[in-house]
Amino acid sequence: MKVSVPGDKTRKIASKEHNAYVAEGVDKHKATQTAPSSLLKPFSEDFQHSLLARQKSLETQLCKFLGDPFYCNQGFILYKGDSVDLLQKLEWSNIKLDLTVTSPPYNIGKEYEDVMSVDEYIGWCCTWMHQVHRITETNGAFWLNVGYLEVPDKGLCVPIPYLLWDKSPFYLLQEVVWRYGAGVSTKYRLSPRNEKWLFYIKNPQKYTFNLDDIRDPNVKYPNQKKNGKYRCNPLGKNPSDVWEFPKITTGTKRSSKERTGHPAQFPLGIVERVVKASSNPLNLVFDPFSGSGSTGIASVGLGRVFLGFELREDYCKIAVDRFKNFIREKKKEQGKICKQMSLF
Ligand SMILES: C[S@@+](CC[C@H](N)C(=O)[O-])C[C@H]1O[C@@H](n2cnc3c(N)ncnc32)[C@H](O)[C@@H]1O
Repeated sequence: MKVSVPGDKTRKIASKEHNAYVAEGVDKHKATQTAPSSLLKPFSEDFQHSLLARQKSLETQLCKFLGDPFYCNQGFILYKGDSVDLLQKLEWSNIKLDLTVTSPPYNIGKEYEDVMSVDEYIGWCCTWMHQVHRITETNGAFWLNVGYLEVPDKGLCVPIPYLLWDKSPFYLLQEVVWRYGAGVSTKYRLSPRNEKWLFYIKNPQKYTFNLDDIRDPNVKYPNQKKNGKYRCNPLGKNPSDVWEFPKITTGTKRSSKERTGHPAQFPLGIVERVVKASSNPLNLVFDPFSGSGSTGIASVGLGRVFLGFELREDYCKIAVDRFKNFIREKKKEQGKICKQMSLF
């Protein structure tokens, strides 16, 4: 089916740039970039000043209660240490979190976790989730990404949401399914190809949700009209509760461009959608299990301030190197725009 592409730039849904149905030959599964170009867009000078001022004021308070950070620059604040300990200290300050986006260890024996009994694991998650809840702004949100674990004698691939969904005072707004292509192949059961995101809020009456910022312009019939008016929102459709983002893969010829040395990195594209939906510029976004710093890069790329905790020094170093590289890329973009403007 051929779809005409009108000149109206406000209608993202009928543009070749954004709509895979309109743009022939667009591969939905193409490799992810080092960072999506939307995160590399430069900020205005005024906004950059506001971001640094916000970082400075948070940094002063953080230093008072948590000590010196492992790294702090350009809105990216990282502490090396145990989340429960650091959260306890954070509770003594006046700092409030606008959004928490995280993927904790799944208790499945990865190199960065000591396996606990299932009950201990639930208890530990209960502790840190309560801590996060206490210091979240009233209109704030908590997005929790989890997979599967084994419950001895009961189940092999038990979805972690079944164990955790009501173990904190947060209000569960909904579950989002993250579907991907890559994953382990199995012979005696089906290959798992999805994980879940639990979308929690603190107050169901009042919470940040920026639907227009995350609309999906990939609309099958962008030019369909009813009574002379376009049927679909010019920015696109609601992205629904099933999201398709390629997983960060490893291996010869199939390794994602985004890949770092961290074994459980989530893709920047997915965190970008979460941060856009559930926070506003200059807000504080938190990740208590920061790993390679994906939440931090997406947050700073979108003009939020990031606070991360990570237990392992090697991962802290990976995150900092990755962030520095990201800032270099962002500056290059700024340079390109300045050059283009000087040509006019
Ligand atoms: C699933 S990974 C998070 C990966 C991250 N989302 C990313 O994109 O890189 C969980 C991380 O939690 C860290 N971790 C484990 N226990 C911790 C603790 N008690 N306090 C802080 N970090 C911890 C691990 O070292 C690991 O990097």
